[in-house]
Amino acid sequence: MRPFCAEDVDPLFAVMTTDEVRAAFHVPDDFTRANVWSVLTSFAGLWELKGVGQWALEERGSGRFVGRAGLYWRMEPEWPGVEVGWLLDPTVWGRGYATEAGARAVEYGFDDVGEDRLFSVILPENTRSEAVARRLGFAPGEERVLPHFPSAAHRIWQLDPAGWPGWPGAGPGVSGG
Ligand SMILES: CC(C)(COP(=O)(O)OP(=O)(O)OC[C@H]1O[C@@H](n2cnc3c(N)ncnc32)[C@H](O)[C@@H]1OP(=O)(O)O)[C@@H](O)C(=O)NCCC(=O)NCCS
Repeated sequence: MRPFCAEDVDPLFAVMTTDEVRAAFHVPDDFTRANVWSVLTSFAGLWELKGVGQWALEERGSGRFVGRAGLYWRMEPEWPGVEVGWLLDPTVWGRGYATEAGARAVEYGFDDVGEDRLFSVILPENTRSEAVARRLGFAPGEERVLPHFPSAAHRIWQLDPAGWPGWPGAGPGVSGG
């Protein structure tokens, strides 16, 4: 996990426009590299102004950019709080990378940022993302239509420090699940 840089526009665009990520994340057909730039600058702004944000994910062995994970926040009152999120190149799905990065983001959110509750906002159809949340100890909560995505309700998953099983391998329910 490392900070994003300007050169990540192309690899993030490539990941976000794979068929699998387009379908799961509802990436619009007219999504462009300029949209990715807006995403990256909003992450940078969140780090600067709010102290939370997303990291670029590199595969240790190859050094290849494989996606993003970390913390996110929106100002709308309907947004539940600091969110933990993940998005990976489909070529590395099924290896536990989202769970590994999500675990570090959770630890950062509780220990470094000082949040007492973290959230994950997931469309109920997105079963792979729900599985990551469950492996990290998040509990499913209410379904709610959020202003940034009016066409369907998201489920709000939440995690308190008491429900956090720790790093993958350190506690039950996380490792290899
Ligand atoms: C959501 C997303 C990141 C999940 O990816 P994923 O590969 O399923 O999740 P992980 O990286 O945690 O990998 C879990 C899988 O690796 C396996 N695994 C192997 N080693 C593991 C380990 N050490 N720890 C956890 N899981 C491990 C798990 O058994 C699981 O396998 P399965 O796919 O057969 O169930 C991916 O589907 C994605 O990028 N989707 C598009 C973007 C998106 O929807 N983001 C979320 C928006 S809410």
